[in-house]
Amino acid sequence: MNSLTPLIQAEYDRQQQELCLIASENYVSKDILTANGSVLTNKYAEGYPGKRYYAGNNVVDQIENRAIELAQQLFETDYHVNVQPYSGSNANLAAYASILEPGDTILALSLAHGGHLTHGHPVSLTGKVYNFVHYGVNKETEMIDYDEVLALAKEHRPKLIVTGGSAYSMFIDFARFSRIAREVGAWFMVDMAHIAGLVAGKVHPTPFGHADIITSTTHKTLRGPRSGIIFCRPEFKKGVDRAIFPGTQGGPHVHTIAAKAIAFEEAMQPSFQQYAQQIVKNSKALAFRLQQNGFRIVADGTENHLFLLDLRPSPVRGKEAQLLLEQAGIIINMNSIPFDEQSPTNPSGLRFGTPAVTTRGMKEKEMEQIADCVTTVLRDHTSVPAVAETVAQLAKKFRIPGY
Ligand SMILES: Cc1ncc(COP(=O)(O)O)c(C=O)c1O
Repeated sequence: MNSLTPLIQAEYDRQQQELCLIASENYVSKDILTANGSVLTNKYAEGYPGKRYYAGNNVVDQIENRAIELAQQLFETDYHVNVQPYSGSNANLAAYASILEPGDTILALSLAHGGHLTHGHPVSLTGKVYNFVHYGVNKETEMIDYDEVLALAKEHRPKLIVTGGSAYSMFIDFARFSRIAREVGAWFMVDMAHIAGLVAGKVHPTPFGHADIITSTTHKTLRGPRSGIIFCRPEFKKGVDRAIFPGTQGGPHVHTIAAKAIAFEEAMQPSFQQYAQQIVKNSKALAFRLQQNGFRIVADGTENHLFLLDLRPSPVRGKEAQLLLEQAGIIINMNSIPFDEQSPTNPSGLRFGTPAVTTRGMKEKEMEQIADCVTTVLRDHTSVPAVAETVAQLAKKFRIPGY
């Protein structure tokens, strides 16, 4: 027992007692927790399998090679794989550094329209080092406007075109992006952090075969440990590996690499495909019920695990809505909606995601219940204690995996 043990227990209780609708969060299995908390954390393994700087890496080499093999099997690809990235943000930075020079132009989805900070936002190092130009979504459809992407690509002649994001609810046409990139002589990168589990579960089109480089986190829909991964066509192997080590990282987190490998193995089970299908069914059911309850959903729905709700008709904005729902035991994040006139610190939207509640075993019926709880809280603030009771009952019925 140490002074952190009660806090870790308290966090376990919180996760168990509340409902998580944060689109980027999930619950990992006991096997993954075990690997991530194993003696592998004791080992330094700078370098790559067969080429380490320190002795004692015989077992670690087998673990890293197995993780690579499993990642290739899972995504049915012969792309080169680097399983060492500590997380998604630095996987992206390394991917850029593997093929670009500082100051080079990159075309990416803007954060305000569903992209990610590491896609060139000025507060991110990525936005300081590279010359980012951003495309957005169409004002009417709230979907990516491929003609605009092509026009911007022709105008700015980027060396790299990036797609993927953290708050985009529709399928992305990777083939179309790839054609645009080829037309202007750019490389094409997909950040599939959010949708990796959906791609693995075959409920989202795959970027493999279209993108030159693919980055991802492993802890969102893919339901692995908090970490990153990079895939690339063979010609980018040397650049990617060097950009990770020694370019931007030191010793790899071998315990996490083992946990990632287990996540890939889990995602190859038929039950994971059912899980991915249910994530999307749940997302659609939740969005549909909220629409029936009178809310507007950005882009009029969802094709993946997340969607944005437009709070503008209601008296509350993102910050207050997030807080009220938290008081009711529903954990969610405020989010900008496209063309938001509010600041990102109190935006006009809420982002809903179903990976975590789906892991707990919830289905469409529970999504309707959750939508009604959200509606009640947003309509009538005095309802929070009563809704909190309903949420607690629901959370008790669907336990989180792990210890
Ligand atoms: C699309 C996308 N890329 C990259 C990241 C960064 O991942 P991490 O938080 O692991 O650095 C995220 C995280 O939310 C993301 O949504």
